[in-house]
Amino acid sequence: MTEMVQANFSTEELQELNQRFEAQSPQEVLQYAFQRFFPKIVLACSFGAEDMVLWDMMYRLNPQASLFYLDTDFLFPETYEVRDRLMARYRVPAEQVIQVKPELTPAQQAERFGDLLWIRQPDECCRLRKVDPLTKVLQHYAAWITGIRRDQTPTRARAGLVEWDAAFGLVKLNPLAAWTNDDVWTYVNTHDVPYNRLHDQHYPSIGCTHCTAPVHPGDDPRSGRWQSTEKTECGLHQ
Ligand code: ADX
Repeated sequence: MTEMVQANFSTEELQELNQRFEAQSPQEVLQYAFQRFFPKIVLACSFGAEDMVLWDMMYRLNPQASLFYLDTDFLFPETYEVRDRLMARYRVPAEQVIQVKPELTPAQQAERFGDLLWIRQPDECCRLRKVDPLTKVLQHYAAWITGIRRDQTPTRARAGLVEWDAAFGLVKLNPLAAWTNDDVWTYVNTHDVPYNRLHDQHYPSIGCTHCTAPVHPGDDPRSGRWQSTEKTECGLHQ
C-alpha cells in the first residue's frame, strides 16, 4: 500500500517530484509550489543572501507572496535594515512581511531562566526564541520555503528540493538545495538583489547577535555560528 505522508501527498509522489525538480530551476520549483499551495505557502526568511534570492524569485512569480522572519529580539541592526530595504525595493505591504516574536521578552527570559541563557544552554535559548515561535507560525501554512543548501553542512547534504517536514507537519521546499554559494551571489549581482551589509564584513552566515561572529577568510562559512560550542543547528532544520 502507498504510504501517505500527508492526506494527498504520497511518498512516491514526493520522489517523483524530487526527480523532476533536480533537472529544473529554483524558479520552476517555486512556480509548482505556488500553483499547488498559494496562499498557504510562505518563505522563512532570515534576510541572508539565499532568502533574499528566493524572495526576489517569489516576488517575480507572485507579488502577493509573503515571508515571515523569526525576530528573536537578538537580530543585528543590519538585518532589520535589509528587511526595510526589501520592503522599499519590492513595495511589499507590511502584512506580507510577518514578524514572529518569541513569547518571552529577553528580560522575561532572563527572569525565568537566568541571564545569558544563550551561553549556558544555547539549545534552550534557540527553542524559546526560534523553534517554538516557528512551530506556531507554521500551523497556518501547508508548505514553507527555506534557503538551505546541501553544501552548507553535512546535515543538509541530503536535503530534498521538496520534503515532508515531519517535525512541523507540512511540506518543506528547499529550492536552492543544489545551488552553491557562487550561484547565490551570481544571482544577487545579476538582479541587483539587496543583501545584508554584514556579508561584506566576513559574516557569511548570520543569526543572532550573541551567537554569530565573523569568520576568517577561507574558514567554514558557518564557523561563526555558535562559536566555541559543538552546536551547528538551532532546531529549525532536522
Ligand atoms: S539556522 O537554522 O542555522 O539559523 P541558517 O541561518 O543557515 O539556519 O538559515 C537556513 C534557513 O533557515 C534560512 O534560509 C531560512 O529559510 C531559515 N531561517 C533561519 N533563520 C531564520 C529566521 N530568523 N527567520 C526565518 N527563517 C529563518
